[in-house]
Amino acid sequence: MKKAVSLSRNPLCYNGNLFSAEDYKEFTADFPSINSVMLGRGMVANPGLAGEMKNGEKMDKRQLKSFHDEVLKGYEEIMSGDRNVLFKMKELWAYMIQMFDGAEKHGKKIRKSQHLADYRAEVDSLFGELDLKESAGAFDGK
Ligand SMILES: Cc1cc2nc3c(=O)[nH]c(=O)nc-3n(C[C@H](O)[C@H](O)[C@H](O)COP(=O)(O)O)c2cc1C
Repeated sequence: MKKAVSLSRNPLCYNGNLFSAEDYKEFTADFPSINSVMLGRGMVANPGLAGEMKNGEKMDKRQLKSFHDEVLKGYEEIMSGDRNVLFKMKELWAYMIQMFDGAEKHGKKIRKSQHLADYRAEVDSLFGELDLKESAGAFDGK
């Protein structure tokens, strides 16, 4: 990668494995000439990641819930049937569940939910019972 950066005559944008503000800081220290990055899994898991990288402010639980509710509402508006909406939301949770500590049981119930009513009840219980990880955004890469 260092070789590519030194040889390239084009402006470069990097992506891959940036999961926390710390990762970003290390990356910019290693590659100061690259001033744009794209975020994939890290951003899906932690929608506050870009803000955290820019100004060090972490997303709190209320903001994450409000993000979740907005995504859910959007899918409900454009998709028909609980099944299709749940398919999308479960995919999101495959990443976002990592924002919480000890959320395995909640994650399993979310994955098993068949109707939006059960799904909502489970998401409410997750947000009610658990706190966000101290290191939210630290991502295990799975
Ligand atoms: C859920 C998901 C969907 C993706 N969809 C696409 C896609 O449609 N086209 C594409 O070029 N890359 C896609 N990617 C790859 C990402 O753009 C990115 O290159 C990859 O996730 C590596 O970056 P990351 O380590 O920040 O996740 C997708 C990745 C994920 C996790």
